[in-house]
Parts: sequence; C-alpha cells; structure tokens
Amino acid sequence: MKLICVSNEQEVGLEAARLIASVVRIKPKAVLGLATGSTPIGTYAELVRMCAEENLDFSDVRTVNLDEYVGLDGSHPQSYRYFMQKHLFDKVNIDSDNTYVPDGLTEDAEEECALYDELLESFGYADIQLLGIGVNGHIGFNEPADCFTPETHVIKIAESTIDSNQRLFETRDEVPRYAITVGIKGILCAERIVLIATGRKKAEVLKATCLGPVTPQMPASILQLHPDVTIIADEEAFSLVPFFGDDD
Ligand code: PGA
Repeated sequence: MKLICVSNEQEVGLEAARLIASVVRIKPKAVLGLATGSTPIGTYAELVRMCAEENLDFSDVRTVNLDEYVGLDGSHPQSYRYFMQKHLFDKVNIDSDNTYVPDGLTEDAEEECALYDELLESFGYADIQLLGIGVNGHIGFNEPADCFTPETHVIKIAESTIDSNQRLFETRDEVPRYAITVGIKGILCAERIVLIATGRKKAEVLKATCLGPVTPQMPASILQLHPDVTIIADEEAFSLVPFFGDDD
C-alpha cells in the first residue's frame, strides 16, 4: 500500500483527481470505478475543472459505480445516480450511455447483480477504482460480515451506516435499508485502487485498514492483498497510523 498524507480535505480531492486524470490521459477509453459519499465530492470538482480548463477528455471514458440504494429512483436526490449526475456526469463531456450505476428500482435484484458482474467482466474491470471508506470500514456497501462476498449483491445496510447517512435524509426512517453493491471481487479486480478518507472520524478504520488483520469484519482490510493500492488521506484521518500520526 502506498500512503499519501496531505494537509487537508481539499488536497485529498486534488491528489485523487490527479491520479484519475493521469489514467484517462494515458488511456482515453479508461474504465473508472467510481464512488459516492461526501469524501469524493472534491475529487469530482477537480475532474470537472480539469475537463473545462485542461482538456481532460471524458468522451470515450466508461464509468461503473460501486453501489445504489434499493428503492430509490435515479431522480431521487439521495440516489447515487443523482449524486453522480450532479457532481460529475452532467458537468463533463461524458456520454451518458457510458455511465453505469446499479438500478435501485429493479424488479429482479438478483438478475441486476448478475448483469452488473457481467458488465464489469466484459469491461475487464476498472482501470482505476476510487473508494471512500465507511466509519465501520465498509467499501462500497460491503458491510462488516462473517465472510467476504465476491459478487455484486444486495446487502442489508449496517445500522452504523444508516446512522452516518441519515444526515442526508429528513428522517432516519427514510434511509433505505438495502443497497446493491459491487462485491469484493469486483473491487479487487481493478488494476489500481485509490482510497480517500478525511477527518478524525476515519482514523480508527484507516489504522485497521492499513495495519490490522485482514478480516471481513473490517472490509477495507482486504485491500492489503491488492498489489496497487494508494490511500490518500488528511492528517486527521492518518492520525492513528504510526509515522503520520503521533501514535506510538
Ligand atoms: P463519506 O462516506 O465519504 O460520506 O464519509 C464514505 C463511505 O461510506 O464509503
């Protein structure tokens, strides 16, 4: 794992965008594995700026998002499809037919998951996969569990994730209870992985991700087994990782 410690949230976004942009410039038909949440917003803002001001060209890029809430239509402001349109797709020259987010309204979730895995495989998986990390260590919606699930699947969202995400909904009851998520295989098959994290609330999970045992109870720990992972985080998020932090 390569660890990059930067001074603040804005720098995390800039650094992650630079890595993604370098992949797109080298390979115009790149497949980008994308994530949602508060953390990637700065990354997408910088990619939008690069597209407008530095000719970063998305016209042949394909994107595959990690997850979507079950039951939310793409026009729902809290759906991940809506998030992606708002923060990236509507602001760069990407062909909307080349943007993939699981269908949260599917009537046959099993089929939707199988088709999503077929799509990933047909693309040869992501050239670069962007990941956030949950306060419980989840990546995508791969929540802590007794085993890792390789395939795209429907997951019951952990209570701690519902607590964390309720800030975006009017009430806790409105937070969907299920999501479709790319599984661990879909993530680990990416050529390169970039995980971003900011703030003190991510310090414990970042320490466990980098230094703890590989366990499905801390899903991000599986990244230790991937040959090309870069973690970009601010000083607060790295504060419990020896060398960056003052932990002894
Ligand atoms: P956040 O979410 O970026 O909003 O903290 C990260 C995640 O849950 O993966």
